[in-house]
Amino acid sequence: MPIPVTPIPADADLPAWLDALGTRFAAFELQGSGCLSYGIATPTGRRFVKTFRAEHDRLLRRALAVHAAVAHESIVAPLAAYRLRSGESVLVYPWLDGGVLYPADPRGAAVRTDPDGAMARFRALPVDRVEAALAAVLDAHVTVAAAGLVAVDFYDGCLLYDFAASRMHVVDMDEYRPGPFTLEADRLPGSTRFMAPEEFRRGAVIDERTTVFNLGRMLRLLLDAGDVEAAWRGTDRQSAVITRATAPRPEHRHATVAELAGAWRAATA
Ligand SMILES: Nc1ncnc2c1ncn2[C@@H]1O[C@H](COP(=O)(O)OP(=O)(O)OP(=O)(O)O)[C@@H](O)[C@H]1O
Ligand SMILES: [Mg+2]
Repeated sequence: MPIPVTPIPADADLPAWLDALGTRFAAFELQGSGCLSYGIATPTGRRFVKTFRAEHDRLLRRALAVHAAVAHESIVAPLAAYRLRSGESVLVYPWLDGGVLYPADPRGAAVRTDPDGAMARFRALPVDRVEAALAAVLDAHVTVAAAGLVAVDFYDGCLLYDFAASRMHVVDMDEYRPGPFTLEADRLPGSTRFMAPEEFRRGAVIDERTTVFNLGRMLRLLLDAGDVEAAWRGTDRQSAVITRATAPRPEHRHATVAELAGAWRAATA
């Protein structure tokens, strides 16, 4: 369902408008995107409020298009969208408890090996819990692919795990776009740990098989007890699925996300 963007007619500036929503209890101001986001306690519940300056309009439009096309229990959809007279925009999401596996942090990648951090805690879960979380992300992307979208900038910073509820959520799909498309830059945005070779090739076709690669990298990196791919927790069958999903040449991979999800399910049963 399309999400309407409500214009804010008053001359409110963004900080004042945010303060009127409720009390800020968290701030995300170190993100690579340059967007500033906040946890805000409102009278109707806690919200994750993401603000976009005018130069981020492309991201806002993409996020709205993605959530208009895709609905899935593991994908957090915005509750509302607003545009201020200043050109700034705001997306309001439900607040999710838990932690993003790779949060923006001054320590950089070291945050992933902090034993108290979400990533190390996730990697220490029983294997069946990890497998259930990974299956949810695969399933969400079957829906994404069925809607004709390809993942861009998918990485462990998009995965928020709720340890209390044992549930994985996919957040920040602001760079996802309709595919296939031809890459008209030297590379796509994203984490090199997750990216397919074609994402670094101007003129390359980016399609569902690129998403297959990204998801294959997720399976490899998250079903591992450590951060350097040296402590594999899975089976040889699962490993074989990953090898195929992350083949350098797209034509050697699973042809669709659904095919990957089916192969993984069979290997994991
Ligand atoms: N619904 C939510 N509930 C609680 N926290 C959230 C929610 N969505 C995102 N977050 C937190 O806010 C952080 C920033 O959100 P998001 O990834 O959407 O921002 P971004 O500006 O696009 O960042 P990036 O530069 O990594 O793309 C996330 O890493 C996560 O810690
Ligand atoms: Mg982002």
